[in-house]
Amino acid sequence: MSDSLDLSPLSQKDLICTSLLPVADIERIYAVARQLKAGRDVHTRVLANKRLAMIFEKDSLRTRFTFDIGMNDLGGSVSFMDHRDARIGSRESVKDIAKNLERWVHGIVARTFKHKVLEDLAAAAGIPVINGLSDHVHPCQALADFFTLVEKWDTLRGRTVTFVGDGNNTCHALIHTAVKLGVHIRVCSPEGYEPNSRVVNEAMRAAQETGAEVQILNDPKQAADGADAIYTDVWASMGQEDEIEERNGIFAAYQVDEELMSLAKPGALFMHCLPAHRGKEVSQQVMDGPRSIVYDIAENRLHVQKAILALLIR
Ligand code: CP
Ligand code: NVA
Repeated sequence: MSDSLDLSPLSQKDLICTSLLPVADIERIYAVARQLKAGRDVHTRVLANKRLAMIFEKDSLRTRFTFDIGMNDLGGSVSFMDHRDARIGSRESVKDIAKNLERWVHGIVARTFKHKVLEDLAAAAGIPVINGLSDHVHPCQALADFFTLVEKWDTLRGRTVTFVGDGNNTCHALIHTAVKLGVHIRVCSPEGYEPNSRVVNEAMRAAQETGAEVQILNDPKQAADGADAIYTDVWASMGQEDEIEERNGIFAAYQVDEELMSLAKPGALFMHCLPAHRGKEVSQQVMDGPRSIVYDIAENRLHVQKAILALLIR
């Protein structure tokens, strides 16, 4: 099977943000992910003798397991460094971490608070650096989200995805990726919790090339109206634990429930990056209902990230 995989390199060394990824690269990732998924029991050992370092400042289930399993499926190995007790760069500089790791491994996945740590790692390392989530964006998530939507809908162009909730890392990645793929994106947040205006402005510029529309709203009903999919994420992200109670109050009217879903198109899909809090950002009924594709997305994290590894690691 590996013979038929086109693993010529992507145009980028790293995957830090999907805003930096040309559409042609996204299409290549999806093509390889489809092939790997179709032959899921075939271990294509295209990364035999390659090693991946994973450094995580935050908890993870999906990202950690899918990169670990994915790298092993492809014949490689993984070393994990739990960095939850100290920020990356506190014991030694980010540059020196990169310069050491590049002597031992062939790629790095990092999950950080500061996005700049990822950018600095990528700038210093001669090997690929993959963003496993930063406070700013979650590119692997968004790539799996839209890969899953292609499976459901065949074509993405002209569809509308509505994100209801905090204008956070997941939301930013969704915006950047949607506009590249010609998907209209609506974001609906309480006032003061809208996505970063630089992300929105950059997305609006990128949208001009694909015909996508970007709308930032505060009214969930307006945002849900006629949407093809409704997406939500936690109201307080990792690192914002001390704001949980305050946010639970501010976001209470932003729960994705049956009533909100009923305003979307018939058959509209429900999406969540997970972990989810039933009874908070999503009702139990919607989360576990027939329109929910949350576990399909979680499965596709594996296939999409295997493709990313296969295409970036040399
Ligand atoms: N969606 C996601 O990235 O999950 P984890 O935080 O468990 O990795
Ligand atoms: N916005 C969430 C996403 C987790 C995958 C967080 O950063 O905690």
